[in-house]
Amino acid sequence: MGRGRPGATRDAAVQSTGDSSAVSKCSAAARGYVRDRFLGLLVGQRRRRRAPLIHRGYYVRSRAVDHCVQDFLLKTQSHSRTQILSLGAGFDSLYFRLKDMGLLSHTVVYEVDFPNVACQKATLIKGIKELSALVGDAGGEGLGAITFSGEDYKLLGVDLSELSKLEKALEKAGLDNEVPTLFLAEVVLTYMENSRSDALIQWAAEHFSQACFVLYEQMHPEDPFGRVMQQHFSQLNSTLHSLAQYPDREAQRRRFLQRGWTECSVLDMNEFFTFCTPEDEQRRVQALEPFDEYEEWHLKCSHYFVLTAAKGMKPSWTPLLSNMAVPCGDGPVRMAGSVTASVCGMHSEAAGLRRYGHHSALIKPNVILTTGGFGEEDGQHCRMRNFHVLIKHEGCWKAGCVKKENHGKRWDGRLYHTVSCLSNSLALMVGGRTSPSSAALGMLWLKFPESCDALDSDGITVELVDLQPVAESAALRWRHSATEVTFRGEKYLFIYGGRSAMQPVLGDWYFLHTEELSCTVIPVEGPVPEGRHSHSACSWRGGVLIAGGLGAAEQPLGSVFFLREIEHGFQWQTVETHPPLIPRYSHTAHVHDEKLLLVGGVWFHSSSVPGLTVIDLMTGLCMDYMISVEHLEWPLMLHNHSSVFLPNEKELLLIGGGGNCFSFGTHLNPEPVSLSLSNILTSH
Ligand SMILES: C[S@@+](CC[C@H](N)C(=O)[O-])C[C@H]1O[C@@H](n2cnc3c(N)ncnc32)[C@H](O)[C@@H]1O
Repeated sequence: MGRGRPGATRDAAVQSTGDSSAVSKCSAAARGYVRDRFLGLLVGQRRRRRAPLIHRGYYVRSRAVDHCVQDFLLKTQSHSRTQILSLGAGFDSLYFRLKDMGLLSHTVVYEVDFPNVACQKATLIKGIKELSALVGDAGGEGLGAITFSGEDYKLLGVDLSELSKLEKALEKAGLDNEVPTLFLAEVVLTYMENSRSDALIQWAAEHFSQACFVLYEQMHPEDPFGRVMQQHFSQLNSTLHSLAQYPDREAQRRRFLQRGWTECSVLDMNEFFTFCTPEDEQRRVQALEPFDEYEEWHLKCSHYFVLTAAKGMKPSWTPLLSNMAVPCGDGPVRMAGSVTASVCGMHSEAAGLRRYGHHSALIKPNVILTTGGFGEEDGQHCRMRNFHVLIKHEGCWKAGCVKKENHGKRWDGRLYHTVSCLSNSLALMVGGRTSPSSAALGMLWLKFPESCDALDSDGITVELVDLQPVAESAALRWRHSATEVTFRGEKYLFIYGGRSAMQPVLGDWYFLHTEELSCTVIPVEGPVPEGRHSHSACSWRGGVLIAGGLGAAEQPLGSVFFLREIEHGFQWQTVETHPPLIPRYSHTAHVHDEKLLLVGGVWFHSSSVPGLTVIDLMTGLCMDYMISVEHLEWPLMLHNHSSVFLPNEKELLLIGGGGNCFSFGTHLNPEPVSLSLSNILTSH
């Protein structure tokens, strides 16, 4: 094999991203996310079925681009001619969609990509009747960079980094600098050196009298999800160049305003989905497929933005701001300080804790039992078969092995369940799921040795005892909470919220008598909180504190409730916090000394990730602390994790967490992490 020009492998890697985008968009179209009969034709034999998370990701991207493009066409309707220039168009079907909808009566679409890609696309179009009939061949191909030419469609093979060549090729193809022109760069500019993409942005503003720009790409490279995202693209040899110089939307906005554009708006994709997508459309998309990857969906959306810029447009062009009450950008969250995360230093012994959606319970003051979840076992990603135990010995946590004994019940590998320790030898496991359509897993007793002496250095034996069909509907749920409460001196488990295969959120509850294991009706007064899952729940003063969660509209919630014992039952009370708690979900929580501690989770503020929040339950004061990860060599993802609070040591152990990061691969926190809270809990 001959040696290619330097950079050829990198170009090939970048070009293949066009393939992969079209395949993913095609899969989303096949499942009804977007309407597009042309993608299938352009993708042909390369069709693959993608996961629901990928479908949602490509849905929001397509919707954002379509929203802006169609708005441009609408707002320029009165002009006799307009142009769309799709930079790095890959195998996208934009032209065919617009043409088919009859939206191109006075618009010419120019598409540019590397010559290689443009040639492949031209060959495809020529070979497929339905496509070539829509374009109509004007016979202009073979003219330099023009690989295909129809009356209102020109496909050009040029490297966008070579601005003067690009300019010449576009001129030859008929691009007119005086006609309102929309530039579209959908995940393209970031693959170019910044000096080249900046020059392109500036050239567009300087050379066109009425111009609009739509940019869709990644941001926030430095937070944990961002680090996994960056690493993924670097490993593919298609480094994302924009990220270092333009890490957030403000930097991107400045980039355009400093290069000749006079208007610029940027939304992250959570904002776009929430504020620019009609609610019935949001519900439609949310119901298309069984889905349970909320965290990764929202994280993906907070790492991508859509930017629109304009110059010379009359009236001004601001498609992201019209018709909706979009809060203007998310400023930084005010942090009261930081807590430092340090690894617990168990290394290989901690491998069994590389999991998410598991549950960890302190079953004795020095023993943590972790069950279930999805993670890595024997080098493979799977629903976890093994339980895991951490035993504190002479001040150090060490992993031991767990021998499972099945009594009528084989371990089902559930995730998003709860485990409540009810005595020094008994814990109750409630609910959970295997797949999002399979959640009839019921309850299990976990029995373990009463005395700590029975814990040999090797670990612990746990017996699994099946309890079905006791209190079935209480257990037909996952992402719920189960919290010990006291009523008239008797102990109950308060099972609340979560979701089921049929219901996206549950707002109901059960009082399960812990000795009789029967559900008891206890009157509850007060305004019932809206249904939620992935909230936190802690025992406090015989009742329960519920905080946050994901609500019915898949929006994070910021409410805090206290279910308080009253004479004849319980009462829901709202806990007012100031400043208001930033809505979040998938966090964990603990109560210590009249303070509610919330750990990690997912929120919509793309400028930072939730760290530790301390709510003073006496005053309502709410303080956010950043978790400083400078001592960790890997990204710490604090969602779908578990945490254990050790009150004597004022120490928080964070166990597992992470998940399947969109198309960037699975990231599982490799080791437990400890946070010392002594400073925070005494200084309050
Ligand atoms: C992620 S794909 C996106 C394709 C299309 N915009 C879409 O969203 O479906 C990136 C595309 O940009 C093209 N591209 C990247 N750098 C380019 C350059 N310097 N010149 C021409 N095309 C480029 C790639 O070949 C690829 O087709």
